[in-house]
Amino acid sequence: MRILRTKRSTPDDFQESGLRRCLDASDLTLLGVGAIIGTGIFVLTGIAAATQSGPAVIISFVIAGLVCALAALSYAELASSVGGCGSAYGYSYAAFGELIAWIIGWDLILEYGISVAAVANGWSGYLNNALVAVGLPLPDSLTHAPQAGGIINLPASAIILLLMGMLILGAKESARLNTVMVTIKIITIAVFIGIASFHVQPGNWSPFMPFGWFGHDETGKPVGILAGASIVFFAYVGFDAVSTAAEEAKNPRKDIPVGIIGSLCFCTLVYILVAGLLTGIVHYNELNVSSPVAHALGLIGFKWASALVSTGVIAGLTTVMLVLYYGLTRIIFAMARDGLLSANFAGVNARTQTPVKIIVTCGLFIAAIAGLVPLGELAEMVNIGTLFAFMLVSAGVIALRYRVPEMMRPFKTPASPLLPLAGVFSCGALMAFLPSLTWYRFIVWLGLGLIIYFSYSIRNSKLDKS
Ligand code: ALA
Repeated sequence: MRILRTKRSTPDDFQESGLRRCLDASDLTLLGVGAIIGTGIFVLTGIAAATQSGPAVIISFVIAGLVCALAALSYAELASSVGGCGSAYGYSYAAFGELIAWIIGWDLILEYGISVAAVANGWSGYLNNALVAVGLPLPDSLTHAPQAGGIINLPASAIILLLMGMLILGAKESARLNTVMVTIKIITIAVFIGIASFHVQPGNWSPFMPFGWFGHDETGKPVGILAGASIVFFAYVGFDAVSTAAEEAKNPRKDIPVGIIGSLCFCTLVYILVAGLLTGIVHYNELNVSSPVAHALGLIGFKWASALVSTGVIAGLTTVMLVLYYGLTRIIFAMARDGLLSANFAGVNARTQTPVKIIVTCGLFIAAIAGLVPLGELAEMVNIGTLFAFMLVSAGVIALRYRVPEMMRPFKTPASPLLPLAGVFSCGALMAFLPSLTWYRFIVWLGLGLIIYFSYSIRNSKLDKS
């Protein structure tokens, strides 16, 4: 029975928790854009177009965007009614009980932690390219993890430690840095759209669907538009991080739904435009490179714009790491406050009003992983983890509508239970298109989480004590 106990969701979740309420609707929307636009559009679009979808990668983006929109509506409802900085973890605690809440919290730690480390690797690659371009290359041994022939990926570790300092300083200060970086990123994308719009060769869009809807290549790997959608889904990861700011938002019930839905709509439009133009200016075969947007601009003769895009990517990836790292610390904060992780962590520094112990512990771990492990395929684990969280959040809307019908819901998902059910099924379907190795790794991670839950968390839960 203990594993099914639920945490009552009351407006208490909106009480002061020691964190500073300093973020408004525009901060929250920009946090969303900061977390969303990154490796996905700047790197994966090209790889997905070249190897999975062809020019129909635009359809992959539309499908992944629709799946995210369904999940975003559910997030908006639960963030405005259940609230709390634990996001999907907190909503599951109210809807399904402690064990499922733990599983989803553990899953979110994986999603956010690995994303930050993976993006730090991509960031380091871009920084190194820029340093080579200005004649100041770093030695290979300092830009590659041991398994990749180096000693440490120093820039990847260093950027995490810098962001750690930023997050300690405060949420408002971090949001300010985010705004500057997001502006640079959006200018970069606008420049790309401006140039590419005048250089489309419609012949590049044909054949439009070279890999069809779904199939397998000679190595057995899934290909096609649907498999492409499950890969480019990564480009949308991050809008959910807005919900982890619930306890630092000035008016969470209204502004968190605006931040989640606003940032997702904006990014979906940008993605569809960029994917269409990228495959329109060069043939999709040319795009299987680590920096397809900059590469395509170079191919059509815009070397300066190619350099500008690289700068935009460095700024863009910084905000992705910043916001996801921020989200990770707030989820762990919520879990520690509930006693499922050591309560030692739940302290808030009186001066900066940030959970400093959690920020430092996470920063040191992620810096070590980013510096010492070459990440590659681990990024696919981010997708499986996120889709799993989205599924549970959509199911949580239905469960809570039945279990606590009287709960105040400032934002309601339309056409419930139809749309949340569609969210559950569409996330499940995208999970099914991910490679089996990703599934095995995910199951191992969840197994490890269960061992920790049954050996520690179940006995230390605040609900156990009360
Ligand atoms: N959506 C984020 C990115 O594409 C994680 O980098």
